[in-house]
Amino acid sequence: MSDNVHVIQNALLAHKIAQLRDVNTPCGEFRRLVREISLIEIVDAMRDFPTVEKQVTTPLEVTTQRVIDQSNICLVPIMRAGLGMSEGLSEILPLACVGHLGIYRDHVTHEAHEYYASFPKNVANMEVILLDPMLATGGSAIDAIRQIKARGVKSIRFVCIIAAPEGVAAVRKEFPEIPVYIGALDRELNENCYILPGLGDAGDRIFGTID
Ligand code: PRP
Ligand code: URA
Repeated sequence: MSDNVHVIQNALLAHKIAQLRDVNTPCGEFRRLVREISLIEIVDAMRDFPTVEKQVTTPLEVTTQRVIDQSNICLVPIMRAGLGMSEGLSEILPLACVGHLGIYRDHVTHEAHEYYASFPKNVANMEVILLDPMLATGGSAIDAIRQIKARGVKSIRFVCIIAAPEGVAAVRKEFPEIPVYIGALDRELNENCYILPGLGDAGDRIFGTID
């Protein structure tokens, strides 16, 4: 793995992802787990985030501390499933903007198709955190990164929950400079480009649209 691929090692994260994978985990609990996992992962994803100095008055004295400029953060969930992650992160980063990218995979060709895009006007100067629970072939993430870069954004990091080696390699090849944060690196893709062992269709499990 290259320096820019971070498979996060954390016992609590592994525990939560194991629960998420379970076919018996119902929709509401699945959503809650996606939110919790996103909160755990963001700690690693923001480890080297830019900070500025700020004077803070404690009850005892004035001190200079380092803080992040939340208003310069743009969370970008890839819809649908990324919305489960941005919901959780908006709680811990209440001043962050949220852009949206709608991308779906064709069920036959597995190619990514964009159907919606909405970004804040000044996104080019913002720190973008791209969110999608699943990195399978990499088609959706690559399309999303292209869309974001086309808007002049210079700083992008990608946070996913489960990744397949095929998807990681595809993103690396296209965008070696973009840091990718992964909760669990799985074995492989199956013949339908689903991740094994994976968790099934993340969007369907978050929104309860399983037949
Ligand atoms: C899922 C997932 C990713 C994509 C990953 O979305 O949320 O966006 O597949 O696959 P890839 O790496 O092969 O592109 P899906 O297309 O099922 O859309 P949905 O979120 O609307 O269900
Ligand atoms: N999208 C999903 O939701 N799950 C997979 O395993 C692959 C793509």
